[in-house]
Amino acid sequence: MKRGINIAILGRGTVAQGVIKLLKRNRRLIEKKVGATLSLARVLARGTRKQKDIQLPARLLTDVPDEILSNPDIDIIVELIGGYEPARSYILKAMEAGKDIVTANKALLAVHGEEIFARAQKHGIDIGFEASVGGGIPIIRTLKEGLAGDRNRALYAILNGTCNYILTTMEESGEDFHKALASAQQLGYAEADPSFDINGIDAAHKLAILVLLAFGTRVRLKDIYTEGIRHISRMDITYARELGYKIKLLAIARHDNGKIEARVHPALVPLHHPLASVRGPYNAVFIDGEALGSTMYLGQGAGMMPTATAVLADIIEIARNRLHGKSLRIPPLGYPIDSLGRLPVRSIDDLKSDYYLRFMVLDRPGVLAQIAGILGSSGISIASVIQKEDRDGNTVPVVMHTNAAREKDLKQALARINRLKVVKAKSVYIRVVDFATP
Ligand SMILES: NC(=O)c1ccc[n+]([C@@H]2O[C@H](COP(=O)([O-])OP(=O)(O)OC[C@H]3O[C@@H](n4cnc5c(N)ncnc54)[C@H](OP(=O)(O)O)[C@@H]3O)[C@@H](O)[C@H]2O)c1
Repeated sequence: MKRGINIAILGRGTVAQGVIKLLKRNRRLIEKKVGATLSLARVLARGTRKQKDIQLPARLLTDVPDEILSNPDIDIIVELIGGYEPARSYILKAMEAGKDIVTANKALLAVHGEEIFARAQKHGIDIGFEASVGGGIPIIRTLKEGLAGDRNRALYAILNGTCNYILTTMEESGEDFHKALASAQQLGYAEADPSFDINGIDAAHKLAILVLLAFGTRVRLKDIYTEGIRHISRMDITYARELGYKIKLLAIARHDNGKIEARVHPALVPLHHPLASVRGPYNAVFIDGEALGSTMYLGQGAGMMPTATAVLADIIEIARNRLHGKSLRIPPLGYPIDSLGRLPVRSIDDLKSDYYLRFMVLDRPGVLAQIAGILGSSGISIASVIQKEDRDGNTVPVVMHTNAAREKDLKQALARINRLKVVKAKSVYIRVVDFATP
């Protein structure tokens, strides 16, 4: 066997432990595939938390980053500490020292990816980030390699397992948002502070990475319209279903006439669409390619072992590149950095879609006509109306499905409707996703 590859891991949390377990469990298989030994050489563990469940020999552990970052014996550094700093500085320093990098850190790549990928190219460093999007689903490789010859037109994805679990539980168990969130936390699907997940930020981080690979263009996080699921009620889930839809938190990106759409928000997905059947903590990415047509990639989007498989895939690829020469390696984003574009991102206000609307109104004659009148004067036509008897005091819900309307016009109309005396709560609007080819 040729010389071995030495790996160091930064962090000793959930994913790091999965990687250590999988490396141990599949060592022979992995080494057979790589054609060399793969050794875990060091682990950065600051040890501020309780004893971790994986026992490691003391000689592997260090709390001094420089014992890893500039250690000439180490080939690949696997960053699993998360967050922006010191993860960014550690990665940059390791690259300066010629180490190849594997990371699962979507937040870091979404915000500092440009700097990190440019530096990797400058130093001829491999950087693997399969685990940063979709957990165990090999979506980065799929976009970079499998779909490399096609032109992607649109991508619709469920990228946050916590939100998908909450929405599924609300639908199937009839729980309200807070109960479903508590049960996600109990099962370990949601963090103690779940705000990044339920506010859509985690999905936006992942979408920023997917847009680079799918469309070869950079998008700034601030240009991705981001809305979470806090305001989704059981009532809306039930009525959406009556209309033939499920509510999902979708990350959507579309390439349309030299512009990019990139947005994260709850959306009504038709029951017959494959994304509607994605339940619980699962993730899925549905891609519309010009030559290939539609494909969907489904799997566990988080968790110790699914995420570890993605990290291991990167380690294996990079180990092979190190052993057999890097001249044929694929650029980390599938494009040379200098050929990435910066297409303009369309404002959400200019987008057109059908809408699900819910109004809580006084149960009086003429109310429906008032609302329809305002919508009509903004050029918004109604496709269907359900008037429910689910009375709350003297207030009843009115649910509408509109035809395609411009978001800006809808918001203006809703502002007027919300001022009507007969309307007793802020009106709810949720976009109905349009899977038509851009
Ligand atoms: N968990 C998942 O399912 C999943 C899925 C996909 C991607 N990811 C990504 O993978 C990364 C790791 O996630 P995780 O769930 O494994 O997190 P985690 O369980 O919180 O583990 C993070 C580890 O890093 C250590 N750490 C943090 N800052 C450090 C520092 N400055 N120096 C040394 N050690 C430090 C922590 O030490 P202490 O214990 O002392 O705090 C902990 O051991 C994140 O970027 C996350 O977004 C996670």
